[in-house]
Amino acid sequence: MIVVTTPTGQIGRHLLDLLLDARDTAGPVRVIARDPARLPARARDHVEVVRGSHADPGVLKEACAGADRVFWLVPPTRTAESAEGLFDTFTRPLCEVIEQGGVERVVAVSTLGRGIARDAGLISASLAMDDRIAATGVHYRALCPPFLMENLLDQAGTVRDLGAFFLTVAGDRVLRTCAVRDIAAAAARLLLDDGWTGRADVPLVGPDELTPEGMARVMAEVLDRPVGYRRSTVEEYRATIVGSGASEGWARGAADMVRALDEQGFYGAGAPSTPEWAPTGFRQWCEEVLLPAVRD
Ligand SMILES: NC(=O)c1ccc[n+]([C@@H]2O[C@H](COP(=O)([O-])OP(=O)(O)OC[C@H]3O[C@@H](n4cnc5c(N)ncnc54)[C@H](OP(=O)(O)O)[C@@H]3O)[C@@H](O)[C@H]2O)c1
Repeated sequence: MIVVTTPTGQIGRHLLDLLLDARDTAGPVRVIARDPARLPARARDHVEVVRGSHADPGVLKEACAGADRVFWLVPPTRTAESAEGLFDTFTRPLCEVIEQGGVERVVAVSTLGRGIARDAGLISASLAMDDRIAATGVHYRALCPPFLMENLLDQAGTVRDLGAFFLTVAGDRVLRTCAVRDIAAAAARLLLDDGWTGRADVPLVGPDELTPEGMARVMAEVLDRPVGYRRSTVEEYRATIVGSGASEGWARGAADMVRALDEQGFYGAGAPSTPEWAPTGFRQWCEEVLLPAVRD
């Protein structure tokens, strides 16, 4: 039995699709969903559903009864008091369930940056999560992507209306990327394979070596309209997310993350591509995902 958290999220819904495609080998699948009505119809017909949040110890225990594999994702939550608090709220019940026995393998979404990132807010909290889960002794794979291409979807309207997108990192330094479909495919591959043991990171670094300015050029070509890169300050970024409803503590964690990204470069050129795990290129992603979003 495989338990899937966040089945309605960007990564989780792709993963669920892949597990349903492979249901002869996957065995039974159970999802934890706050609102089961948001699950795709195909999923509702073929998976067991436990209603609630995987931060709730009772919900998680019920969902993991009889399960040997778990796909784990801590949902980004702007209203959380802090990044550390959010990861703790979710990770503590998972570790308790694992310690009760039964769960043999956990595949979780984490981040690139281990061994490099310091005081990196959300990134440090995610890397600490890996240490806590692995310390239970469960077989563990941390999926470690850099910057998600899908982050740019939030700016589809800005790209359309202003011909620009905004980040805080230097425009002329490489920013490694990954598409969420590749994270889902990696998760499915690992959940369907009982041949791995112990703990390891799985870096998911797409094939490109683009800077934000290079990304703007690709976007302009694919979208057939002018697109420029604009660099925001960390303070502008922090104020923007507070303005969109984030707590001060969450905004601090996000600001620490982008500052560390720029200063410590762990999503940069030094991170080798892993095309066997993350094959989707930025141009392909722009053609298949960004273009329809900007057209809407
Ligand atoms: N952004 C980056 O560049 C980057 C880089 C490296 C790693 N990451 C990691 O990648 C992951 C991103 O995942 P994603 O894109 O799939 O996220 P997502 O699309 O935001 O999905 C998260 C899902 O979680 C559910 N959810 C929200 N709050 C919840 C709660 N309190 N309890 C239970 N479920 C809740 C929501 O579904 P419902 O509303 O239907 O419940 C939502 O669909 C994160 O773990 C992030 O740390 C991101």
